[in-house]
Amino acid sequence: MQNSRDFEVSRRDLMVGAAASAAVAAAPSVAGAQTAADVPSLKVSFTVNGKIRDLELDTRTTLLDALREGLHLAGTKKGCDHGQCGACTVIVDGRRINSCLTLAVMHQGGSITTVEGLGTPQDLHPMQAAFVKHDGYQCGHCTPGQICSAVAVLGEIEAGIPSHVSADLTARPQATAAEFRERMSGNICRCGAYSNIVDAITEVAGRKA
Ligand code: FES
Ligand code: FES
Repeated sequence: MQNSRDFEVSRRDLMVGAAASAAVAAAPSVAGAQTAADVPSLKVSFTVNGKIRDLELDTRTTLLDALREGLHLAGTKKGCDHGQCGACTVIVDGRRINSCLTLAVMHQGGSITTVEGLGTPQDLHPMQAAFVKHDGYQCGHCTPGQICSAVAVLGEIEAGIPSHVSADLTARPQATAAEFRERMSGNICRCGAYSNIVDAITEVAGRKA
């Protein structure tokens, strides 16, 4: 018959055995171990905010991480890191993109504009000034992405690119609040500054017109 002491011993043995098995399973095999030398890296050169920048990167580095960690341009924000919030929006070769969804090495020779490249604290871009004037932000986390997107949106309308709310796909789209809301729908603002953002864009669009 098993007494309680026997039970304690066998239980402890069981725990030690399980821990040892887990350690073996977690340890990389010597043959499969990855060293720093195995990580594929590549030189990439692109223009960021008007300056040529050279980086040597792990080929898996996103453009967002290259900007923030490689070039210390922390204006571009990391929200979701998988294409759902728009906080990481930058303008690449004239088009806005989510920089968390693209690899830096794909932009060799490209021209990238981040919020730092639009204006300076002393000389704000008209869109930056309008966001300030209309209180187009609260915490500010989404704001660099919103501003880059808004600048690109006006460019898209000017170029005649229609959106889902454009009534006539063959006519030049109008700079209306409905167009702005639709085109800015990929930029999420957790603080809900949406109506003020539309006011800011409307003001800049009016000035451009
Ligand atoms: Fe890129 Fe959210 S951080 S879309
Ligand atoms: Fe806070 Fe937009 S201002 S998330």
